[in-house]
Amino acid sequence: MCGIVGYVGNRDAYPVLVKGLYRLEYRGYDSAGLALIDPSGNLNVYKCKGKVADLEKYVAPMDPQGQIGIAHTRWATHGVPNDANAHPHFSQSHDIALVHNGIIENYHVLKAALIENGYSFRSDTDTEVLANLIEYVRRTNDCSLLEAVQSALKQVIGAYAIAVVEKGNPDEIIAARKSSPMVIGVGEGEFFLASDATPIVEYTDRVVYLNDGEIAVINRNKELKVFTFDNQESRVDIKRLQMSISQLEKGGYSHFMLKEIHQQPETIVDCIRGRINSESGLVTLSGVIANREKFVNARRIIFVACGTSWHASLIGEHLIEDICRIPAEVEYASEFRYRNPVIHPDDVVIAVSQSGETADTLAAVELARSHGAFVFGICNVIGSSIARATDSGAYIHVGPEIGVASTKAFTGQVTVMAMLALTVARERESVDPAVYTEIVNGLLELPSALNEVLKIDGQIKDLAKIFTYARNFIYLGRGYNYPTALEGALKLKEISYIHAEGYPAAEMKHGPIALIDNEMPTIVVAVPDKTYEKTVSNIQEIKARGGKIIAVIARDDTTVRRMADYCIEVPVVTECLMPIVVSIPLQLLAYYIAVYKGRDVDQPRNLAKSVTVE
Ligand code: M6R
Repeated sequence: MCGIVGYVGNRDAYPVLVKGLYRLEYRGYDSAGLALIDPSGNLNVYKCKGKVADLEKYVAPMDPQGQIGIAHTRWATHGVPNDANAHPHFSQSHDIALVHNGIIENYHVLKAALIENGYSFRSDTDTEVLANLIEYVRRTNDCSLLEAVQSALKQVIGAYAIAVVEKGNPDEIIAARKSSPMVIGVGEGEFFLASDATPIVEYTDRVVYLNDGEIAVINRNKELKVFTFDNQESRVDIKRLQMSISQLEKGGYSHFMLKEIHQQPETIVDCIRGRINSESGLVTLSGVIANREKFVNARRIIFVACGTSWHASLIGEHLIEDICRIPAEVEYASEFRYRNPVIHPDDVVIAVSQSGETADTLAAVELARSHGAFVFGICNVIGSSIARATDSGAYIHVGPEIGVASTKAFTGQVTVMAMLALTVARERESVDPAVYTEIVNGLLELPSALNEVLKIDGQIKDLAKIFTYARNFIYLGRGYNYPTALEGALKLKEISYIHAEGYPAAEMKHGPIALIDNEMPTIVVAVPDKTYEKTVSNIQEIKARGGKIIAVIARDDTTVRRMADYCIEVPVVTECLMPIVVSIPLQLLAYYIAVYKGRDVDQPRNLAKSVTVE
């Protein structure tokens, strides 16, 4: 949440910063702002409530100048979204400007101390407190900006990434991180910094990921230097960025979400590439094989995740128990981290996160490691905090996911989980070879099955029109498709703002059936599986009470077809992979309903793509 961009070099900083903010807008879009040091040495701040486009409209006529600057797009935590609370924040004297992602938990105490020392505040934010604290330390100790930032951060409790510029210091940006990401792009005589690599990729592919507790001194005339808060110099480890600009553009689609839904046949190919041997039909996840003993002897596998990644983990749990015969559990990372959970050194904890930056999941990783468990990451963003904090892992390789609603990451996560389960099951000899082969074949069939299912895009669009004005939805599924129902409901909620509940179909009669009437559409996943007949009975129970059924069925289904009001036909692959197929029409349905309702699909209200605060 919140996006930070910075630039120092020989270009005009303003276009670099604004373009970077557009790239990072998925991280927050309550307000935006930037600070530039102009050629006369003045430090100017421009900021306003609203999106980056509002900032651009406001700032462009002022023709902002400067070759050094920092910028921010905000997801509000402390203080409502308004001009005053937008970043950057000036220190009292206007000598220091600071942008911040995260939360300063002890800001009340720090603020009170600063007020006693004559400081006053213009905003309700924790960030302004830090700007003033740095200024106060700098003045009272007569120290450098770096030393002031180091000393101030030692007094701060919380999670943050910050960037600081100072009047009279026109060559230097100081950046620091603790539990919030920060990447520095290294160009020729210029540096870029950002919350993730997306604003950097078009300028350089050489990047440095700051580690927790590190401060970078980014000076246009000098080498990049990185220090700890205790002023120990750290090694600067430059990595090659694996990202292209075309991955960050809509490519002719009206929204990133639609592009990402339609990309899924290709992203599944990218996800399985190099992991299934076409001759032997064997699946190998190298991160698993390298830690074979940990998985083979695991006493338990615990998934920790949030949101959509949590839904994917429920499918992972099912897969691990089904074919690896290892007890598995799924935890909300936010609950796990505060619950004093029982974790054994022979447990394997799998942290699942698209962004690799979710604060709760990262904290769950740290907790699990502190108990001696082996921690494996399933992430999308390469070099992300969770990918680096885990003992080993597997990337899902679906490319940047920009739409706030997760789509291709979900199907990529489930695909990796299936490959992980197959790798472990083979090593444990816990899976029937015929079942193994069936799942491998299912994985190989997925891209063409997804291409097939995407052909019904127009049909789903028509269906969406019929249901645009429904005020509530129920999504039902069983077994592997219970998580698919949860995920379908989440997609609808987050982008259309329609209330939707996902439920295991058989639980319906224990309460939610009371909600059924002729205004309550129920979406039922009724594809061939172990509980198909039971699901048919659940459909009849709903029909008997006047409910409307939209059923996701196999093409050759004749039973549910007769009962349902509307049917969505999908191709059939092996049972454990059906959530990947079924989730596509549910993503499309949510998408088109949101479009018909005129919602901001890629940037739905109140949400941010990467939840880096608790
Ligand atoms: O990056 P992560 O996978 O850790 O994110 C977890 C959730 O915040 C995320 O899945 C969220 O629920 C999405 N908006 C769902 O579409």
